[in-house]
Amino acid sequence: MRIIVAENYQEFSRWAAHFVAGLVRGKPNCVLGLPTGSTPVGMYSEIVRMHQQGLDLQDVQTYNLDEYVGLSPAHPESYHYFMRQHLFNHVNVNSEQIHIPNGMAQDLKLECEQYEERIQNAGGMDLMILGLGPNGHIGFNEPDSQLGTKTHVVYLTPETIQANARFFPNVGQVPRQAVTMGVGSIMQAKEILLLVSGEAKRDVLRKALLGEVTTAVPASILQLHPHLVVVTDFAV
Ligand code: F6R
Repeated sequence: MRIIVAENYQEFSRWAAHFVAGLVRGKPNCVLGLPTGSTPVGMYSEIVRMHQQGLDLQDVQTYNLDEYVGLSPAHPESYHYFMRQHLFNHVNVNSEQIHIPNGMAQDLKLECEQYEERIQNAGGMDLMILGLGPNGHIGFNEPDSQLGTKTHVVYLTPETIQANARFFPNVGQVPRQAVTMGVGSIMQAKEILLLVSGEAKRDVLRKALLGEVTTAVPASILQLHPHLVVVTDFAV
């Protein structure tokens, strides 16, 4: 495990973007797993800036980690919308190579199976970029006695619903379910980049990196990954 401690959010975002760009330059058709949330916003804007200066993303394939159930891609809080707003509208990733779970699918079980199959057909991710939930979740793999390994539907915990309420008019409008990659899909990536910004996450990050590996802190499973890079903007 490598831990990079950046001075501030700007440096943190730049470091992450340069890490991603390094991979893309070395392997233009790489497969990236992507997160949403507040944490990666600066990284995405730095990738957009690098694209404007010549970084070519045309052959990259992307797989987003998760999507809310019941929000259409046009909903401003859907992860489809987030990704267009922060990245895809501004770079040249081929639209056919962008994959985000469909939270509006009639048959969610089938959607999960097909999403997982697409990941497997792509050979898994070269780089999986993750944020860290305040309760230790990765993707929407919430603390539980068991963790789903493949892409599956989850019920969000009250803590996650509360944490994500900041993006919605009120807590009642936060979807209760999501489709998420499972920990198996995540751990299969050749490399993992965990982005953690803000001292409020110090305790949960310490539990994840230094505590026991337990389903009660889903991110702790990342300790078992041979190529984990953690970037923070605070001293761990
Ligand atoms: C988002 C995701 C979540 C977030 C986590 C942190 O696609 O899968 O696990 O990464 O909830 O969110 P922020 O960055 O908003 O603190």
